[in-house]
Amino acid sequence: MGREPKGVRQERAARAAPPDRAPSLPSAMKALRKVRPEAGAELAEVPVPTPGPGEVLVEVEAASICGTDLHIYNWDPWAAGRIHGLPMTFGHEVAGRVAAVGPEVHHLGPGRFVSAEGHLFCGFCPPCRSGRAHICENLRILGVDLDGGFAEYLLIPERNAWEVDRRIPPEVASIHDPFGNAVHTAFSGEGASEIVGATVVVLGCGPIGLFAVGVARAAGARQVIAVEPNEFRQGLAKQMGADSVIDPTKEDPVATVSAATEGHGAEVVLEMSGVPSVIDQGTRMLAPGGRMSLLGLPPGPVSLDLTGAVPDMAADHHPACHRHGRRRPGDHPSLPAGALRRGLRGDDIRKIGKGDPASVTVERRTARWHEPAWTT
Ligand SMILES: NC(=O)c1ccc[n+]([C@@H]2O[C@H](COP(=O)([O-])OP(=O)(O)OC[C@H]3O[C@@H](n4cnc5c(N)ncnc54)[C@H](O)[C@@H]3O)[C@@H](O)[C@H]2O)c1
Ligand SMILES: [Zn+2]
Ligand SMILES: [Zn+2]
Repeated sequence: MGREPKGVRQERAARAAPPDRAPSLPSAMKALRKVRPEAGAELAEVPVPTPGPGEVLVEVEAASICGTDLHIYNWDPWAAGRIHGLPMTFGHEVAGRVAAVGPEVHHLGPGRFVSAEGHLFCGFCPPCRSGRAHICENLRILGVDLDGGFAEYLLIPERNAWEVDRRIPPEVASIHDPFGNAVHTAFSGEGASEIVGATVVVLGCGPIGLFAVGVARAAGARQVIAVEPNEFRQGLAKQMGADSVIDPTKEDPVATVSAATEGHGAEVVLEMSGVPSVIDQGTRMLAPGGRMSLLGLPPGPVSLDLTGAVPDMAADHHPACHRHGRRRPGDHPSLPAGALRRGLRGDDIRKIGKGDPASVTVERRTARWHEPAWTT
């Protein structure tokens, strides 16, 4: 008799086994917990969770620290208003190996190397049912709404565990989340093809802007112009492949971009600073028909000078609004992996170390606005 296909065998094995907890698994683990509604965190001993149906237990090899984790650690107004249910383990940017699987896990088994996708969607609400699970009405965020990955083990649904090539170091695999922010913001609008041959301006070179510089470079931009006041980050932007770096404290970014494009403006502007005045500057750098995508989260209302831009924006189409983050949670870590294959090096990513794509896309002429759908 021939052997059953591997997938069938794995499925059988998973179904037959009770929650697959290898005998070597400890019963307790260390976890960095938020215990009280005040600044700080506690390293506590907690039980190692047992995977339920469709869940995998990941032995954490690397976890990176996101700005969200700092909000939680500092217990600022955002954290105080957003987080309910202490104590909880925080951290959502995690990679590691599958240590055990629950029943009904069909694709992963112990030993597989995965990166956690921190957005848990319900699968049943209208957005989920219409293929837009990234804006699930019942979205739960790992390390915010449920126990996260600053621990020795992390429990996540199998569908949130993205298998990663073992050649990618854990500390690089753990930052697929912010890397995904950069990839999806850069490829929003018409997608990667818009980047090819374009002048791309990245406003703000924090970790995500720095990723975006590398993504635009790898995707074939004609020139990548980075704008960043911090000297250290200016240097990193150059290392990531920026053709020129503008210091906004020394020169006017709008005039410099205009000069660098012979007065045409940039076809693509990626706003990654969250600074209100910079968002306004971005709209004034755009070439007619260009696209600006906003990832940065402004601290308050933003005022935009659209005189001159409005005729372009309203010309042929009715403005449309819709919210979006990642197109599908499924796209998210696979696209970063693709960009890695196409020329971004792990070393480049490691230089940066470090949120989620919810982007606002302002596209002149077609005037499409995409509002942030989530933040972590
Ligand atoms: N929409 C979402 O879901 C989502 C998810 C993750 C992060 N974010 C936001 O994306 C942004 C980028 O994230 P990050 O982690 O890289 O943040 P970051 O704060 O590290 O980076 C912002 C950068 O902007 C630079 N900056 C300040 N003033 C500037 C100016 N005048 N011109 C150009 N640059 C200027 C800063 O020096 C800094 O390097 C943040 O605003 C963050 O809150 C949004
Ligand atoms: Zn849903
Ligand atoms: Zn994050």
